[in-house]
Amino acid sequence: MDTAKTYEDIKKVLKKHRQSHLLAFWDQLDKAQRRNLLSQIHRLDFVKIDYWVADYVKKNASVAISGDLAPASFYGYEPDDTRQKQKYARAVNLGKELMRQGKVAAFVVAGGQGTRLGFDGPKGDFPISPVKNKTLFQIFAEYITAASQKYKTDCPWYIMTSPLNRTRTEEIFRSNDYYGLEEKNVFIFQQGTMPNFSTDGRILLADKANLSCSPDGHGGSLKALYQSGAIEDMKRRGVEFVSYFQIDNPLINIFDPLFIGLHALDKAEMSSRAVIKTGPFEKVGNFCLADGRLNIIEYSDLPDELAEKRNPDKSLTFKLGSIAIHIINRAFVEKLNADGFSLPLHRALKKIPNIDDCGEPVGPDEPNGVKLETFVFDAVPLASKSIILETLRSEEFAPTKNATGVDSIESTKKMMVDRAARWLESAGLNIPKKTDGSIDCVLEITPGFALQKEDVKEKLNQIPQIKPGDKICLT
Ligand code: UTP
Repeated sequence: MDTAKTYEDIKKVLKKHRQSHLLAFWDQLDKAQRRNLLSQIHRLDFVKIDYWVADYVKKNASVAISGDLAPASFYGYEPDDTRQKQKYARAVNLGKELMRQGKVAAFVVAGGQGTRLGFDGPKGDFPISPVKNKTLFQIFAEYITAASQKYKTDCPWYIMTSPLNRTRTEEIFRSNDYYGLEEKNVFIFQQGTMPNFSTDGRILLADKANLSCSPDGHGGSLKALYQSGAIEDMKRRGVEFVSYFQIDNPLINIFDPLFIGLHALDKAEMSSRAVIKTGPFEKVGNFCLADGRLNIIEYSDLPDELAEKRNPDKSLTFKLGSIAIHIINRAFVEKLNADGFSLPLHRALKKIPNIDDCGEPVGPDEPNGVKLETFVFDAVPLASKSIILETLRSEEFAPTKNATGVDSIESTKKMMVDRAARWLESAGLNIPKKTDGSIDCVLEITPGFALQKEDVKEKLNQIPQIKPGDKICLT
């Protein structure tokens, strides 16, 4: 790069787009820093940035919601009638067959910053299992190993990281010997980033030589899968379906034959799992039909009167909440990328460390800047067909978002113990309980022992008697 020439060109561009402050510390930078800063600026698309600043940074462009919203139809946790029961049975068989044929891959999005958890490192390295303190990465790896053995195939695992945690994630996998998986079946890649802005539209500097950037949201996965070569790798292996999940949910049933099978039977392109919301304003996306098309509308964008609307039986009309579990067709991701798709932007006001005009670090106590992100569920309306399958929160959704309180380390561990206890009870075992009905022991079921409730019955002879206060891990 001819740094001097590029510098002059970029200076002009920055002036035109009112971002000249990005070169404010130029004189204090060494050669390598200058080159690096120029290349970061060079990669920005200022036409888009002007539009983002006007529509998303300086104001919050309201989400266009159609006047005609209706609740979405869905497959229930249990089939509705005999006909549907037969369809579920066919779907389970098909799902298992697709697994045996190696047509399904695991895909976790792990590029987030996990700021709410406050853990120093990739969230996947957080120890969460109640007895053995296994990390999220290890739990998922054990699930994939057990499923690969069950279906006599090699299930590949795609892991999306971000520039902030890719290197560390790779080190963690290497130092843990890929948790027993074969290295060739673990594909770690990185998502894109977006610049962070002050609320008046200036791109923030992380330090004198670097822009302040954040990962571009889990919606960035649909581009990153393609650009990283992950989709090409899937094609080579014959993978057709991607099981998408988030890094913070250790209860995820990554390869559920029913979900995979219903999705495939109905020839869907992107499907979702849903739970029944705990109340009208639960902070989850709402499945809605907008002018006949399935959309997931954020809780903050659903008008109150619709959120609170009730059916004659008093259940919520918009009762389905999204839990970020999807099956996505590989071909759908290819099609989106070939069509040059884009997802809508979402604005988040956050505390963003940066430097001020004098080059002094600003570590804000209050939100001071804007992050822009895309969300994967905004691709649902782009799919030609999409199904929703209900699941039980207690069986499949324990997000570890916070250190304490709601959706926390504590609540996740409790849900893991409760689910293990339910699985054991359903196989006829007695679980010690306190007088208030809560479980009086700590239980952990590893994926190698049981991938689902039904597997427990086959292992009854391996389960010791469980006494009050016991800490038992079934492996
Ligand atoms: P969250 O919405 O929980 O965000 O992400 P986060 O960044 O992990 O956590 P906070 O908000 O800072 O506390 C949901 C899922 O999407 C992934 C996360 O890793 C998590 O699995 N994600 C999020 C990405 O992969 N990339 C992103 O840019 C954002």
